[in-house]
Amino acid sequence: MSDVDDDRLVSGENENSEEASIEKSLRPATLAQYIGQDRVKHELSVYIQATKQREESLDHVLLYGPPGLGKTTLAMVIANEMAVHIRTTSGPAIEKPGDLVALLNELQPGDILFIDEIHRLPKIVEEMLYSAMEDFFVDIVVGQGPTAHPIHFPLPPFTLIGATTRAGLLSAPLRDRFGIVAHMNYYTVDDLTEIVKRSADIFNTQITEQGSHEIASRSRGTPRIANRLLKRVRDFMEVSDKTAIDEQIVTKSLQFLRVDEEGLDEIDNKILKTMINYYHGGPVGLGTIAANIGEEADTIAEMYEPYLMQIGYLNRTPRGRVVTEKGYAHLGLSQERTN
Ligand SMILES: Nc1ncnc2c1ncn2[C@@H]1O[C@H](COP(=O)(O)OP(=O)(O)OP(=O)(O)O)[C@@H](O)[C@H]1O
Ligand SMILES: [Mg+2]
Repeated sequence: MSDVDDDRLVSGENENSEEASIEKSLRPATLAQYIGQDRVKHELSVYIQATKQREESLDHVLLYGPPGLGKTTLAMVIANEMAVHIRTTSGPAIEKPGDLVALLNELQPGDILFIDEIHRLPKIVEEMLYSAMEDFFVDIVVGQGPTAHPIHFPLPPFTLIGATTRAGLLSAPLRDRFGIVAHMNYYTVDDLTEIVKRSADIFNTQITEQGSHEIASRSRGTPRIANRLLKRVRDFMEVSDKTAIDEQIVTKSLQFLRVDEEGLDEIDNKILKTMINYYHGGPVGLGTIAANIGEEADTIAEMYEPYLMQIGYLNRTPRGRVVTEKGYAHLGLSQERTN
């Protein structure tokens, strides 16, 4: 892989198949094991319990939030708690209405169809979902020309779980058909500390309280990144003379890997520096920033900006992005000096 982005240590994206299989082993199976996201979890547990008592299928669920926050994991947990099968697919994989019908046709009553990246469904497939979600049927046209006629195709009651990193890209008619909409937030350091401890346990790796806390605070609020940093730091520990991951090992290895105390990497820092050095800290347009640092505007909007905004280093204004006082301070600068 030549693109540096593919190797980005602190990207929320799931990067390769090796990581995917490790993630599987780290996935919590029940709501009780699922750490953090307390509001979402509480709400879901109420709906799951009520639905089970009524012996119905769970309302359709939309999960949205940045990459790596546990949307796929939560979909699996819901299936497990409901004790139903889950079929997983993704928006771009369903190319034509026939593909969707084939998927729906395999479902048993109460089963879950999980569509990842649901904002990328082709329009024609999305439109077919409307009746499927609302009244559990699809109308398919068979034959061609004068002999073409619609067939009414009833479906078993099922639950659609959709996941997206970009809720804003979802059409209103589709969004409105989800009874349960769960917004996933970045995790707190305390929650991430728990996640790191749990993962270290599964890896059979010793880690101190401070070590877990240090990894957690550099993980950009994202469990996937926490697990990835843990894996890297464990390698550093194993070739050292220590038998447990402690704060010192974490600090040293992440310094080596150029992940700073806030979990920012070189590109995050480059974004801030470019804005400060060339544009007086902004306002500056996304396209201009992208061109300056040689990244796609979409990549910046989806992967870098949300976290920089979350920690209050960057603000979005109608005239463009601006670096905040806090952002200046992170680089050891003050707003007055450069303005
Ligand atoms: N609440 C949690 N508790 C413990 N581990 C978690 C939690 N949420 C996520 N994880 C871990 O983080 C990893 C990434 O989660 P997951 O694949 O569900 O993210 P995602 O939101 O679906 O990401 P994407 O947007 O890339 O599809 C999982 O392997 C899981 O081990
Ligand atoms: Mg996912």
